[in-house]
Amino acid sequence: MKITGISSGFSEANAEALVAAVYKDEKASSADLKALDKLTGGLVADLFANEDFKGKSGDTALIRFTPKGGMKASRLLLVGVGEKKDYKVPAVATLSGTATRFLRKRGIKSFALDARISGDAVTVSQYAAQGMITSQFELDKYKTKDRSTNQVTAGVIYISGAKPADLKNGINRGRVIGDSMNFTRDLANEPPNILHPTEMAKRAQAMAKEAGLKCEVLTEAQMEKMGMGSILSVTKGTTQPAKMIVLRYTPAKSTAKNNEMLALVGKAVTFDTGGISLKPGPGMEAMKYDMSGGATVMGTMRAIGLLKPSVPVIGVIGAVENMPDGGASRPADVVTAMNGKTIEILNTDAEGRLVLADAVAYAEKQGATRIVDMATLTGAVIIALGGYNTGVMGNDQGLMDEIIACGKQTGEGFWQLPVGPEYSKDIKSDIADIKNIGPAGKAGTIMGAVFIQEFIDKAKWAHLDIAGTAWNDSVRPFQAKGPTGVAIRSLLELVERSQ
Ligand code: BES
Ligand code: ZN
Ligand code: ZN
Repeated sequence: MKITGISSGFSEANAEALVAAVYKDEKASSADLKALDKLTGGLVADLFANEDFKGKSGDTALIRFTPKGGMKASRLLLVGVGEKKDYKVPAVATLSGTATRFLRKRGIKSFALDARISGDAVTVSQYAAQGMITSQFELDKYKTKDRSTNQVTAGVIYISGAKPADLKNGINRGRVIGDSMNFTRDLANEPPNILHPTEMAKRAQAMAKEAGLKCEVLTEAQMEKMGMGSILSVTKGTTQPAKMIVLRYTPAKSTAKNNEMLALVGKAVTFDTGGISLKPGPGMEAMKYDMSGGATVMGTMRAIGLLKPSVPVIGVIGAVENMPDGGASRPADVVTAMNGKTIEILNTDAEGRLVLADAVAYAEKQGATRIVDMATLTGAVIIALGGYNTGVMGNDQGLMDEIIACGKQTGEGFWQLPVGPEYSKDIKSDIADIKNIGPAGKAGTIMGAVFIQEFIDKAKWAHLDIAGTAWNDSVRPFQAKGPTGVAIRSLLELVERSQ
Protein backbone atom coordinates (compact mmCIF):
# COMPACT_ATOMS: atom_id res chain seq x y z
CA MET A 1 0.00 0.00 0.00
CA LYS A 2 1.30 3.43 -0.96
CA ILE A 3 0.86 5.94 1.87
CA THR A 4 1.63 9.63 1.47
CA GLY A 5 1.04 12.79 3.49
CA ILE A 6 -0.30 16.23 2.56
CA SER A 7 -0.67 19.38 4.63
CA SER A 8 -3.07 21.35 2.42
CA GLY A 9 -5.62 20.82 -0.37
CA PHE A 10 -7.61 17.98 1.24
CA SER A 11 -10.53 18.06 -1.20
CA GLU A 12 -8.16 18.12 -4.19
CA ALA A 13 -6.22 15.07 -2.95
CA ASN A 14 -5.32 12.43 -5.51
CA ALA A 15 -7.80 9.79 -4.27
CA GLU A 16 -11.18 8.31 -5.17
CA ALA A 17 -12.73 9.10 -1.79
CA LEU A 18 -12.36 11.69 0.96
CA VAL A 19 -12.75 10.41 4.52
CA ALA A 20 -13.47 12.66 7.49
CA ALA A 21 -13.92 11.91 11.18
CA VAL A 22 -17.16 13.22 12.73
CA TYR A 23 -17.68 13.66 16.48
CA LYS A 24 -20.84 12.52 18.22
CA ASP A 25 -23.81 14.85 17.66
CA GLU A 26 -21.70 17.27 15.66
CA LYS A 27 -23.42 19.71 13.32
CA ALA A 28 -21.92 20.87 10.01
CA SER A 29 -20.82 24.13 11.62
CA SER A 30 -17.01 23.95 11.71
CA ALA A 31 -15.11 25.40 8.73
CA ASP A 32 -13.87 22.00 7.52
CA LEU A 33 -17.29 20.31 7.65
CA LYS A 34 -18.89 23.37 6.05
CA ALA A 35 -16.47 23.00 3.14
CA LEU A 36 -17.39 19.31 2.77
CA ASP A 37 -21.06 20.19 3.00
CA LYS A 38 -20.64 22.71 0.19
CA LEU A 39 -18.80 20.16 -1.91
CA THR A 40 -21.65 17.69 -1.61
CA GLY A 41 -24.37 20.25 -2.31
CA GLY A 42 -25.61 20.27 1.27
CA LEU A 43 -25.78 16.50 1.78
CA VAL A 44 -23.64 16.53 4.94
CA ALA A 45 -25.92 18.99 6.76
CA ASP A 46 -28.89 17.08 5.43
CA LEU A 47 -27.56 13.80 6.84
CA PHE A 48 -26.97 15.36 10.27
CA ALA A 49 -30.34 17.16 10.29
CA ASN A 50 -32.23 13.95 9.62
CA GLU A 51 -30.38 12.14 12.40
CA ASP A 52 -29.27 9.46 9.93
CA PHE A 53 -25.75 9.79 11.22
CA LYS A 54 -24.92 10.66 14.80
CA GLY A 55 -21.14 10.30 14.81
CA LYS A 56 -21.17 7.37 17.20
CA SER A 57 -17.87 5.48 17.20
CA GLY A 58 -17.83 3.20 14.13
CA ASP A 59 -20.84 4.83 12.38
CA THR A 60 -20.28 5.25 8.65
CA ALA A 61 -22.05 7.18 5.88
CA LEU A 62 -21.00 7.30 2.24
CA ILE A 63 -22.02 10.27 0.10
CA ARG A 64 -21.55 10.52 -3.66
CA PHE A 65 -21.06 13.90 -5.29
CA THR A 66 -19.94 15.40 -8.59
CA PRO A 67 -16.33 16.57 -8.34
CA LYS A 68 -15.64 20.16 -9.30
CA GLY A 69 -12.61 21.80 -10.91
CA GLY A 70 -9.36 19.99 -10.20
CA MET A 71 -10.92 17.46 -7.81
CA LYS A 72 -10.50 13.74 -8.26
CA ALA A 73 -12.64 12.35 -5.43
CA SER A 74 -16.31 11.73 -6.05
CA ARG A 75 -17.19 10.20 -2.69
CA LEU A 76 -17.15 11.38 0.87
CA LEU A 77 -17.07 8.84 3.68
CA LEU A 78 -17.95 10.12 7.15
CA VAL A 79 -16.78 7.96 10.04
CA GLY A 80 -18.03 8.52 13.58
CA VAL A 81 -15.42 8.73 16.31
CA GLY A 82 -17.69 9.28 19.33
CA GLU A 83 -17.49 12.12 21.87
CA LYS A 84 -14.90 14.72 20.90
CA LYS A 85 -13.46 14.82 24.43
CA ASP A 86 -12.83 11.05 24.38
CA TYR A 87 -11.35 11.00 20.89
CA LYS A 88 -7.62 10.39 21.42
CA VAL A 89 -4.78 9.85 18.94
CA PRO A 90 -4.71 5.98 19.07
CA ALA A 91 -8.34 6.06 17.88
CA VAL A 92 -7.01 7.41 14.58
CA ALA A 93 -5.85 3.85 13.80
CA THR A 94 -9.41 2.63 14.41
CA LEU A 95 -10.73 5.42 12.20
CA SER A 96 -8.34 4.78 9.31
CA GLY A 97 -8.83 1.02 9.64
CA THR A 98 -12.62 1.36 9.58
CA ALA A 99 -12.40 3.56 6.49
CA THR A 100 -10.01 1.16 4.76
CA ARG A 101 -12.21 -1.89 5.33
CA PHE A 102 -15.41 -0.03 4.40
CA LEU A 103 -14.00 1.29 1.10
CA ARG A 104 -12.16 -1.91 0.21
CA LYS A 105 -15.38 -3.87 0.40
CA ARG A 106 -16.86 -1.48 -2.17
CA GLY A 107 -13.94 -1.75 -4.58
CA ILE A 108 -12.57 1.74 -3.86
CA LYS A 109 -8.79 1.71 -4.09
CA SER A 110 -7.65 5.05 -2.72
CA PHE A 111 -8.72 7.60 -0.13
CA ALA A 112 -7.57 10.75 1.62
CA LEU A 113 -8.08 10.95 5.38
CA ASP A 114 -8.74 13.96 7.59
CA ALA A 115 -8.69 12.59 11.15
CA ARG A 116 -9.75 16.03 12.52
CA ILE A 117 -7.72 15.71 15.69
CA SER A 118 -5.10 17.92 17.28
CA GLY A 119 -1.85 16.27 18.22
CA ASP A 120 1.64 16.16 16.85
CA ALA A 121 1.77 15.29 13.17
CA VAL A 122 4.27 12.45 13.61
CA THR A 123 2.01 10.58 16.04
CA VAL A 124 -1.25 11.26 14.22
CA SER A 125 0.16 10.14 10.87
CA GLN A 126 1.76 7.10 12.55
CA TYR A 127 -1.58 5.85 13.86
CA ALA A 128 -3.33 6.68 10.59
CA ALA A 129 -0.79 4.66 8.57
CA GLN A 130 -0.74 1.76 11.04
CA GLY A 131 -4.53 1.45 10.87
CA MET A 132 -4.45 1.37 7.07
CA ILE A 133 -1.98 -1.52 7.18
CA THR A 134 -3.35 -3.62 10.04
CA SER A 135 -6.95 -3.34 8.78
CA GLN A 136 -6.07 -5.13 5.53
CA PHE A 137 -4.72 -8.28 7.20
CA GLU A 138 -6.93 -11.30 6.49
CA LEU A 139 -6.95 -14.92 7.65
CA ASP A 140 -7.36 -16.38 4.17
CA LYS A 141 -3.79 -17.08 3.09
CA TYR A 142 -4.46 -20.79 2.62
CA LYS A 143 -7.58 -20.34 0.50
CA THR A 144 -7.12 -21.16 -3.17
CA LYS A 145 -10.44 -19.46 -4.08
CA ASP A 146 -12.59 -16.70 -2.60
CA ARG A 147 -9.70 -14.78 -1.09
CA SER A 148 -10.51 -11.15 -0.35
CA THR A 149 -8.78 -9.70 -3.38
CA ASN A 150 -10.05 -6.14 -3.03
CA GLN A 151 -7.29 -3.95 -1.63
CA VAL A 152 -7.02 -0.28 -0.91
CA THR A 153 -3.72 0.48 -2.63
CA ALA A 154 -3.19 4.15 -1.77
CA GLY A 155 -3.84 6.24 1.34
CA VAL A 156 -3.26 9.98 1.65
CA ILE A 157 -3.00 11.38 5.17
CA TYR A 158 -4.01 15.01 5.46
CA ILE A 159 -2.87 17.03 8.46
CA SER A 160 -3.41 20.76 8.07
CA GLY A 161 -0.14 22.69 8.21
CA ALA A 162 2.03 19.64 9.06
CA LYS A 163 5.72 19.68 8.16
CA PRO A 164 6.49 17.25 5.30
CA ALA A 165 9.33 15.70 7.34
CA ASP A 166 6.95 14.96 10.24
CA LEU A 167 4.44 13.31 7.91
CA LYS A 168 7.16 11.22 6.33
CA ASN A 169 8.55 10.14 9.68
CA GLY A 170 5.12 9.32 11.11
CA ILE A 171 4.08 7.33 8.05
CA ASN A 172 7.34 5.37 8.14
CA ARG A 173 6.82 4.57 11.82
CA GLY A 174 3.21 3.58 11.22
CA ARG A 175 4.24 1.31 8.37
CA VAL A 176 6.95 -0.41 10.43
CA ILE A 177 4.60 -0.90 13.40
CA GLY A 178 1.66 -2.03 11.23
CA ASP A 179 3.80 -4.49 9.26
CA SER A 180 5.32 -5.81 12.50
CA MET A 181 1.84 -6.35 13.97
CA ASN A 182 0.82 -8.18 10.81
CA PHE A 183 4.01 -10.25 10.97
CA THR A 184 3.05 -11.37 14.49
CA ARG A 185 -0.57 -11.98 13.45
CA ASP A 186 0.51 -14.11 10.51
CA LEU A 187 2.62 -16.28 12.84
CA ALA A 188 -0.27 -16.69 15.30
CA ASN A 189 -2.57 -17.69 12.47
CA GLU A 190 -0.23 -20.32 11.00
CA PRO A 191 -1.41 -23.92 11.32
CA PRO A 192 0.68 -25.94 13.78
CA ASN A 193 1.82 -28.49 11.18
CA ILE A 194 3.48 -25.63 9.31
CA LEU A 195 4.67 -23.48 12.20
CA HIS A 196 6.56 -25.82 14.51
CA PRO A 197 9.53 -24.64 16.60
CA THR A 198 12.04 -25.24 13.76
CA GLU A 199 9.95 -23.13 11.37
CA MET A 200 9.51 -20.43 13.98
CA ALA A 201 13.29 -20.27 14.39
CA LYS A 202 13.70 -20.04 10.61
CA ARG A 203 11.27 -17.15 10.44
CA ALA A 204 13.06 -15.43 13.30
CA GLN A 205 16.34 -15.76 11.42
CA ALA A 206 14.88 -14.34 8.20
CA MET A 207 13.23 -11.49 10.10
CA ALA A 208 16.47 -10.73 11.97
CA LYS A 209 18.29 -10.35 8.66
CA GLU A 210 15.65 -7.96 7.35
CA ALA A 211 15.53 -5.90 10.56
CA GLY A 212 19.26 -5.84 11.34
CA LEU A 213 19.13 -7.99 14.47
CA LYS A 214 21.42 -10.80 15.61
CA CYS A 215 19.70 -14.15 15.91
CA GLU A 216 20.97 -17.23 17.69
CA VAL A 217 18.99 -20.46 17.96
CA LEU A 218 19.80 -22.82 20.83
CA THR A 219 19.28 -26.53 20.15
CA GLU A 220 17.99 -29.06 22.68
CA ALA A 221 21.57 -30.26 23.23
CA GLN A 222 22.67 -26.72 24.11
CA MET A 223 19.68 -26.26 26.41
CA GLU A 224 20.49 -29.56 28.07
CA LYS A 225 24.06 -28.39 28.73
CA MET A 226 22.75 -25.25 30.40
CA GLY A 227 20.49 -27.30 32.63
CA MET A 228 17.18 -26.15 31.18
CA GLY A 229 15.24 -29.17 32.46
CA SER A 230 12.04 -27.18 32.77
CA ILE A 231 11.48 -26.21 29.11
CA LEU A 232 12.89 -29.56 28.00
CA SER A 233 10.24 -31.41 30.04
CA VAL A 234 7.58 -29.88 27.78
CA THR A 235 9.11 -31.14 24.53
CA LYS A 236 9.46 -34.80 25.54
CA GLY A 237 6.21 -35.99 23.96
CA THR A 238 6.74 -34.50 20.49
CA THR A 239 8.87 -35.38 17.49
CA GLN A 240 9.47 -31.65 16.87
CA PRO A 241 12.73 -30.42 18.38
CA ALA A 242 12.42 -27.46 20.76
CA LYS A 243 14.31 -24.23 20.07
CA MET A 244 15.32 -21.31 22.22
CA ILE A 245 15.40 -18.31 19.91
CA VAL A 246 17.53 -15.34 20.97
CA LEU A 247 17.27 -12.00 19.15
CA ARG A 248 19.62 -9.15 19.93
CA TYR A 249 19.32 -5.47 19.09
CA THR A 250 22.39 -3.34 19.87
CA PRO A 251 22.26 0.40 19.11
CA ALA A 252 25.25 2.19 17.61
CA LYS A 253 25.49 4.21 20.83
CA SER A 254 23.46 3.37 23.92
CA THR A 255 21.77 6.06 26.00
CA ALA A 256 20.08 3.54 28.33
CA LYS A 257 19.40 5.06 31.75
CA ASN A 258 21.52 3.40 34.49
CA ASN A 259 22.83 0.97 31.89
CA GLU A 260 19.57 -0.97 32.09
CA MET A 261 19.09 -3.82 29.66
CA LEU A 262 15.58 -4.84 28.72
CA ALA A 263 14.63 -8.40 27.77
CA LEU A 264 11.37 -9.37 26.09
CA VAL A 265 10.62 -13.03 26.75
CA GLY A 266 7.86 -15.01 25.05
CA LYS A 267 6.04 -18.33 25.38
CA ALA A 268 5.87 -20.00 21.98
CA VAL A 269 4.05 -23.30 22.36
CA THR A 270 3.37 -23.92 18.67
CA PHE A 271 0.56 -26.29 19.66
CA ASP A 272 -0.74 -27.05 23.14
CA THR A 273 -2.62 -30.34 23.39
CA GLY A 274 -2.15 -30.27 27.17
CA GLY A 275 0.21 -33.25 26.94
CA ILE A 276 -0.72 -36.23 29.15
CA SER A 277 -3.11 -33.87 31.01
CA LEU A 278 -4.84 -33.79 27.63
CA LYS A 279 -7.21 -30.95 26.78
CA PRO A 280 -10.76 -31.80 25.66
CA GLY A 281 -11.15 -32.17 21.87
CA PRO A 282 -13.67 -29.40 21.15
CA GLY A 283 -11.87 -26.10 20.83
CA MET A 284 -8.38 -27.59 20.96
CA GLU A 285 -7.65 -26.11 17.53
CA ALA A 286 -7.54 -22.66 19.18
CA MET A 287 -4.25 -23.73 20.77
CA LYS A 288 -2.34 -23.00 17.57
CA TYR A 289 -2.22 -19.45 18.94
CA ASP A 290 -0.32 -20.60 22.04
CA MET A 291 2.87 -19.24 20.48
CA SER A 292 1.48 -15.69 20.49
CA GLY A 293 3.80 -14.53 23.29
CA GLY A 294 6.84 -15.55 21.25
CA ALA A 295 5.33 -14.06 18.09
CA THR A 296 4.77 -10.79 19.96
CA VAL A 297 8.43 -10.72 20.98
CA MET A 298 9.39 -11.33 17.33
CA GLY A 299 7.11 -8.57 16.03
CA THR A 300 8.30 -6.09 18.64
CA MET A 301 11.97 -6.91 17.97
CA ARG A 302 11.30 -6.40 14.25
CA ALA A 303 9.92 -2.91 14.91
CA ILE A 304 12.86 -2.16 17.23
CA GLY A 305 15.40 -3.29 14.61
CA LEU A 306 13.85 -1.07 11.96
CA LEU A 307 13.17 2.00 14.13
CA LYS A 308 16.56 1.85 15.89
CA PRO A 309 16.03 3.24 19.39
CA SER A 310 19.23 4.07 21.31
CA VAL A 311 18.87 1.30 23.91
CA PRO A 312 19.81 -2.38 23.71
CA VAL A 313 17.01 -4.98 23.78
CA ILE A 314 17.20 -8.76 23.83
CA GLY A 315 14.36 -11.07 22.82
CA VAL A 316 14.16 -14.64 24.14
CA ILE A 317 11.57 -17.06 22.79
CA GLY A 318 10.98 -20.56 24.13
CA ALA A 319 9.57 -22.50 21.17
CA VAL A 320 8.18 -25.97 21.82
CA GLU A 321 5.25 -28.23 21.01
CA ASN A 322 3.26 -29.80 23.86
CA MET A 323 2.18 -33.32 22.76
CA PRO A 324 1.41 -36.58 24.56
CA ASP A 325 3.30 -39.76 23.69
CA GLY A 326 5.23 -42.55 25.38
CA GLY A 327 8.11 -40.21 26.16
CA ALA A 328 5.96 -37.33 27.41
CA SER A 329 6.20 -35.83 30.90
CA ARG A 330 3.76 -37.29 33.42
CA PRO A 331 1.83 -35.53 36.16
CA ALA A 332 4.06 -36.30 39.20
CA ASP A 333 7.39 -35.94 37.35
CA VAL A 334 10.05 -33.79 39.01
CA VAL A 335 12.44 -31.73 36.88
CA THR A 336 15.23 -29.26 37.59
CA ALA A 337 15.27 -25.82 35.96
CA MET A 338 18.30 -23.82 34.84
CA ASN A 339 18.45 -21.88 38.14
CA GLY A 340 18.64 -25.15 40.10
CA LYS A 341 15.07 -25.10 41.44
CA THR A 342 13.14 -28.37 41.37
CA ILE A 343 9.61 -28.47 39.99
CA GLU A 344 6.93 -31.06 40.58
CA ILE A 345 4.84 -31.17 37.40
CA LEU A 346 1.29 -31.84 38.56
CA ASN A 347 -0.41 -30.83 35.33
CA THR A 348 1.34 -31.11 31.98
CA ASP A 349 -1.11 -28.55 30.56
CA ALA A 350 0.42 -25.84 32.75
CA GLU A 351 3.40 -25.97 30.35
CA GLY A 352 3.79 -22.29 29.47
CA ARG A 353 5.25 -21.45 32.86
CA LEU A 354 7.69 -24.37 32.48
CA VAL A 355 8.87 -22.84 29.20
CA LEU A 356 9.16 -19.34 30.67
CA ALA A 357 11.00 -20.53 33.79
CA ASP A 358 14.15 -21.29 31.80
CA ALA A 359 13.60 -18.50 29.28
CA VAL A 360 13.50 -15.71 31.91
CA ALA A 361 16.43 -17.25 33.80
CA TYR A 362 18.41 -17.34 30.54
CA ALA A 363 17.50 -13.69 29.79
CA GLU A 364 18.77 -12.60 33.19
CA LYS A 365 21.96 -14.60 32.73
CA GLN A 366 22.49 -12.71 29.48
CA GLY A 367 22.55 -9.48 31.48
CA ALA A 368 18.92 -8.34 31.45
CA THR A 369 18.07 -5.99 34.32
CA ARG A 370 14.45 -5.51 33.27
CA ILE A 371 12.42 -8.46 31.99
CA VAL A 372 8.96 -8.37 30.45
CA ASP A 373 7.56 -11.79 29.64
CA MET A 374 4.40 -12.37 27.61
CA ALA A 375 2.32 -15.48 27.19
CA THR A 376 -1.08 -16.94 26.46
CA LEU A 377 -0.65 -18.45 29.89
CA THR A 378 -4.05 -19.04 31.47
CA GLY A 379 -7.69 -19.56 30.60
CA ALA A 380 -8.39 -17.83 33.91
CA VAL A 381 -7.29 -14.42 32.59
CA ILE A 382 -10.02 -14.64 29.93
CA ILE A 383 -12.58 -15.16 32.68
CA ALA A 384 -11.15 -12.31 34.76
CA LEU A 385 -10.58 -9.65 32.08
CA GLY A 386 -12.12 -10.84 28.80
CA GLY A 387 -10.65 -9.52 25.59
CA TYR A 388 -10.14 -5.88 26.52
CA ASN A 389 -7.30 -5.94 29.01
CA THR A 390 -4.03 -7.84 29.23
CA GLY A 391 -3.28 -9.06 32.76
CA VAL A 392 -0.13 -7.52 34.27
CA MET A 393 1.74 -8.90 37.27
CA GLY A 394 5.30 -8.46 38.46
CA ASN A 395 7.84 -7.71 41.19
CA ASP A 396 8.41 -4.04 40.37
CA GLN A 397 5.59 -1.51 40.63
CA GLY A 398 7.54 1.09 38.64
CA LEU A 399 7.89 -1.22 35.64
CA MET A 400 4.25 -2.28 35.80
CA ASP A 401 3.09 1.35 36.08
CA GLU A 402 5.21 2.22 33.06
CA ILE A 403 3.66 -0.59 30.99
CA ILE A 404 0.15 0.47 32.01
CA ALA A 405 0.99 4.10 31.09
CA CYS A 406 2.42 2.98 27.72
CA GLY A 407 -0.86 1.13 27.14
CA LYS A 408 -2.86 4.29 27.89
CA GLN A 409 -0.72 6.19 25.41
CA THR A 410 -1.09 3.61 22.64
CA GLY A 411 -4.71 2.64 23.23
CA GLU A 412 -4.05 -0.82 24.70
CA GLY A 413 -5.60 -1.95 27.97
CA PHE A 414 -3.50 -3.46 30.79
CA TRP A 415 -4.88 -4.37 34.19
CA GLN A 416 -2.77 -5.27 37.19
CA LEU A 417 -3.45 -8.32 39.33
CA PRO A 418 -1.68 -8.89 42.67
CA VAL A 419 1.19 -11.21 43.49
CA GLY A 420 2.73 -11.72 46.93
CA PRO A 421 4.05 -14.27 49.44
CA GLU A 422 0.52 -15.39 50.32
CA TYR A 423 0.02 -16.53 46.74
CA SER A 424 3.55 -17.93 46.36
CA LYS A 425 2.86 -20.20 49.33
CA ASP A 426 0.17 -21.93 47.26
CA ILE A 427 2.70 -23.37 44.81
CA LYS A 428 4.96 -24.96 47.44
CA SER A 429 5.36 -28.68 46.67
CA ASP A 430 5.41 -31.49 49.21
CA ILE A 431 8.35 -33.19 47.53
CA ALA A 432 10.13 -30.53 45.44
CA ASP A 433 10.76 -26.77 45.70
CA ILE A 434 7.58 -25.79 43.83
CA LYS A 435 4.74 -27.34 41.86
CA ASN A 436 3.43 -26.02 38.55
CA ILE A 437 -0.19 -25.50 39.62
CA GLY A 438 -1.98 -23.91 42.56
CA PRO A 439 -5.27 -24.93 44.21
CA ALA A 440 -7.97 -25.79 41.63
CA GLY A 441 -10.17 -22.88 40.63
CA LYS A 442 -8.28 -20.28 42.67
CA ALA A 443 -6.41 -17.29 41.23
CA GLY A 444 -5.24 -19.27 38.18
CA THR A 445 -3.64 -16.29 36.46
CA ILE A 446 -1.73 -15.23 39.57
CA MET A 447 -0.50 -18.81 40.13
CA GLY A 448 1.12 -18.65 36.69
CA ALA A 449 2.82 -15.38 37.59
CA VAL A 450 4.15 -16.41 41.00
CA PHE A 451 5.55 -19.55 39.40
CA ILE A 452 7.54 -17.53 36.84
CA GLN A 453 8.69 -15.17 39.62
CA GLU A 454 10.63 -18.08 41.17
CA PHE A 455 13.02 -17.93 38.21
CA ILE A 456 13.78 -14.22 38.41
CA ASP A 457 16.84 -13.45 40.50
CA LYS A 458 17.48 -9.69 40.84
CA ALA A 459 15.85 -8.26 37.71
CA LYS A 460 12.83 -6.02 37.66
CA TRP A 461 10.14 -8.14 36.10
CA ALA A 462 6.64 -7.88 34.65
CA HIS A 463 4.50 -10.68 33.28
CA LEU A 464 1.80 -10.09 30.65
CA ASP A 465 -0.93 -12.71 30.30
CA ILE A 466 -2.26 -12.12 26.77
CA ALA A 467 -4.48 -15.24 26.57
CA GLY A 468 -7.60 -13.05 26.30
CA THR A 469 -6.24 -10.25 24.13
CA ALA A 470 -4.06 -11.99 21.51
CA TRP A 471 -7.03 -13.41 19.61
CA ASN A 472 -10.40 -11.91 18.77
CA ASP A 473 -13.26 -14.25 17.92
CA SER A 474 -15.26 -11.79 15.82
CA VAL A 475 -14.56 -9.32 13.06
CA ARG A 476 -14.42 -5.60 13.97
CA PRO A 477 -15.03 -2.65 11.63
CA PHE A 478 -11.27 -1.97 11.63
CA GLN A 479 -9.86 -5.48 12.02
CA ALA A 480 -10.33 -9.03 10.75
CA LYS A 481 -11.20 -11.64 13.35
CA GLY A 482 -8.32 -13.67 14.72
CA PRO A 483 -4.87 -12.60 15.93
CA THR A 484 -4.63 -9.00 17.12
CA GLY A 485 -0.92 -8.20 17.46
CA VAL A 486 -1.64 -6.91 20.97
CA ALA A 487 1.12 -5.34 23.13
CA ILE A 488 3.56 -4.54 20.31
CA ARG A 489 2.70 -0.83 20.32
CA SER A 490 2.94 -0.59 24.11
CA LEU A 491 6.23 -2.50 24.31
CA LEU A 492 7.77 -0.32 21.61
CA GLU A 493 6.64 2.73 23.58
CA LEU A 494 8.27 1.23 26.70
CA VAL A 495 11.53 0.82 24.81
CA GLU A 496 11.41 4.33 23.33
CA ARG A 497 10.68 5.91 26.71
CA SER A 498 13.82 4.36 28.16
CA GLN A 499 16.13 6.08 25.64
N1 BES B 1 -2.32 -22.28 26.72
C1 BES B 1 -3.08 -22.53 27.87
C2 BES B 1 -3.85 -21.30 28.35
C3 BES B 1 -5.18 -21.09 27.67
C4 BES B 1 -6.25 -21.88 27.99
C5 BES B 1 -5.34 -20.07 26.78
C6 BES B 1 -7.49 -21.68 27.39
C7 BES B 1 -6.55 -19.86 26.16
C8 BES B 1 -7.64 -20.66 26.48
C9 BES B 1 -2.19 -22.99 29.02
O1 BES B 1 -1.07 -23.72 28.66
C10 BES B 1 -3.03 -23.84 29.90
O2 BES B 1 -3.49 -24.86 29.44
N2 BES B 1 -3.23 -23.40 31.13
C11 BES B 1 -4.07 -24.10 32.06
C12 BES B 1 -3.41 -24.05 33.41
C13 BES B 1 -4.01 -24.96 34.42
C14 BES B 1 -3.77 -26.40 34.04
C15 BES B 1 -3.41 -24.65 35.77
C16 BES B 1 -5.43 -23.42 32.08
O3 BES B 1 -5.50 -22.19 32.00
O4 BES B 1 -6.43 -24.13 32.16
ZN1 ZN C 1 -1.45 -25.80 28.48
ZN1 ZN D 1 -0.32 -23.32 26.75
